[in-house]
This record gives sequence, structure tokens and C-alpha cells, in this order.
Amino acid sequence: MFDHPQSPAWTPLLEAAWKARANAHAPYSHFQVGAALLTASGEIVSGCNVENAAYPVTLCAERGALSAAVAAGLRPGGLVAAVVVTDVPTLTPPCGACRQALAEFAEGLPVLLANHSSRELHRLEELLPHSFTGRNFL
Ligand code: THU
Repeated sequence: MFDHPQSPAWTPLLEAAWKARANAHAPYSHFQVGAALLTASGEIVSGCNVENAAYPVTLCAERGALSAAVAAGLRPGGLVAAVVVTDVPTLTPPCGACRQALAEFAEGLPVLLANHSSRELHRLEELLPHSFTGRNFL
């Protein structure tokens, strides 16, 4: 289902991500990002980047979506697919912090990167090989 970038299964996730992106608060970078996550319960949860005058306080779209998904009941193993959208020619992969945050909930997560003209499909384990997990210390 989520094993091909052109699969129609991505459509509702893409729509949710574009919609969230339109609400991004990015007055400093002017770089608006939208993200959407599908959970095992069938819910689509979206997020956008929220910048702050104190720059490091900025929250990425992916972690905003993840936080909302956890508040809605997401638990480890419950992430099915993720989408990140931006309106620039070069597709935007999740930053390192967001990769690590997502890996807590699904290590083999399919992650679709998209803009208005292209798509690229990755797996989280490929974006973040050898991730640090609870297994490393529990
Ligand atoms: N940003 C995201 O929201 N997600 C990413 O994966 C990369 C970066 C945001 C953070 C900041 O508001 C802007 O993009 C520029 O770094």
C-alpha cells in the first residue's frame, strides 16, 4: 500500500500535510513545512512547523504531528506512514531530531517526501541507520 510513491494510498496523507503546511508559522525562515502521520487506528494526524523569535524553540512539522498523534493515543509500533511536504524544488527530508523522534514509534516507517511536482519514498531505517532506541539501555 505504502510501498510505492505514486500509490493512491498517499492521497489523504498528502492532503492533510498540505493543509497543515498552509498554517505553518514560519516568519523567520519563510520555509513552510507540512507533515502528516497515519496511525494503526486509521487516524491521520498532521503538523506544521512553528517558529519562534527565540530560534531554538522552533518546532518542526514532523515532531508537531508526532506530538498530536501521541496525544491522540499513538503508542510505539503504531505508526504506519509519514509524509513531509514543502513547496521548494529540492524535497525536504526530516531533520535528524525528527528522524530520532519518529524512530521511537516505528523503525521501518515509510516516509514520503513531496513537493508539487515530485515524490520520493524512503524508509526511516534508511534515513536513520543504527538509531538509538530503548533496547540500547533497557
Ligand atoms: N523544518 C521542519 O519543519 N521539518 C524539517 O524536516 C526540516 C526543517 C522547519 C524548521 C524551521 O521552521 C524551518 O523548517 C527551517 O529550518
